[in-house]
Amino acid sequence: MSDSEEFSLNMAKKMDSTDYLSHFKERFFTPTDTIYLNGNSLGLLSKDAATTLLRVLDEWKNLGVQGWTNEDNPWFYHAEKLGAKAASLVGAKPEEVVATGTTTINLHSLVSTFYQPTEEKNKILADELNFPTDIYALQSQVKLKNLDPNKHLKLVKSEDGKFLDEAKIKRMISKDVALVILPSVLFRSGQLLDIEGITENAHKKDVLIGWDCSHSVGVVPHQFDEWGIDFAFWCSYKYLNAGPGSSAFIYVNEKHFDKDAALTGWFGYIKEKQFEMNLHFEQSRGAGGWQISSPAILGSAALEGALELILRAGIENIREKSLKMTSYLIYLVDNLLTDEPYNFKLGTPRLPNQRGGHIALEHEEAMAIHEELMEYNVIHDFRPPNFLRFTPSPLSNSYEDVWKLVNTLRKIIDESG
Ligand SMILES: Cc1ncc(COP(=O)(O)O)c(C=O)c1O
Repeated sequence: MSDSEEFSLNMAKKMDSTDYLSHFKERFFTPTDTIYLNGNSLGLLSKDAATTLLRVLDEWKNLGVQGWTNEDNPWFYHAEKLGAKAASLVGAKPEEVVATGTTTINLHSLVSTFYQPTEEKNKILADELNFPTDIYALQSQVKLKNLDPNKHLKLVKSEDGKFLDEAKIKRMISKDVALVILPSVLFRSGQLLDIEGITENAHKKDVLIGWDCSHSVGVVPHQFDEWGIDFAFWCSYKYLNAGPGSSAFIYVNEKHFDKDAALTGWFGYIKEKQFEMNLHFEQSRGAGGWQISSPAILGSAALEGALELILRAGIENIREKSLKMTSYLIYLVDNLLTDEPYNFKLGTPRLPNQRGGHIALEHEEAMAIHEELMEYNVIHDFRPPNFLRFTPSPLSNSYEDVWKLVNTLRKIIDESG
């Protein structure tokens, strides 16, 4: 695409040859003949995830109902065990995390608990760039408290439709706010918010704060305990590679273990006594207390292997490679795709500490380019109005994939002229 060595395929291959995480790529099943850059939407199946999924199927096949109590791997404790495994990814204690429910359901459950409007403090603060399901859920949560979403759900506005101004978020955490709900990473632009700083600001004003970390857990390390966030929830089908619709997670800071979950169910019961089948609910005093139903054993079976793979690679190493890959992509875009006739514009913050795992490119003809890219089997996604999103996943992608993406984008524009 360019004669210069620094932009050559050779250079990408050299970077792969010195990448100590490169061997993880062979653990993944990449759809045949594709360049898969869509881990921000659905991570790929790994051999490790397939192994635990098949093992659980075998357990079901061979043990039937006794799978719940089988000695090696009792399903009864799956949710807590997976929570404990994921805890180190987010800087939490094992009992502060549980694999349960789905993202939106977990949001409902946590907000039902933590949003307790009073005369003085009765608003929820969110933002207009969050993934819509969060906003729909918050609107209904406000209505459930017999309040008006138009008045009691405040949304931080974005100046440019891409980014949020953190100073503005902090200013909007006013005394009448009871709860703040924000995404760690914005789903379109990939902006990573300063979770620590915003949390600190909220707490100074005596406001609780919860984070939707669907776009960061598995690719960005977090320190939830150190930062003192109140609660968080996230999915496992993006950067955790656990499969479509796989079990989501809840984090509850241990300082809130004495709170009663608002939406209760029998799997939130103290584990040792759950099968006494009392009608008086006794909540498990950990994140597990926010479980409602039987854990989705099949829906979390792949998660076990997927998490093990991430832990083996190390979340700090994953972040380091993710930033190297997105920086490389930005470098190629800056040099090869911004001028006429290419006209792509970076839609993601340049500063590494403000980036999640994906890169957004803006283009006037984004929709048409998206369709062309799919013809070339470059798997990515399009988000209106004009964003193309690409994720070089640290474990399943190579620098060569990034190079091929840029090469294909140039080809598409060259051929359209
Ligand atoms: C930030 C965020 N929250 C929630 C969801 C989806 O929620 P659910 O897992 O309940 O479908 C998405 C989906 O991409 C998302 O990006």
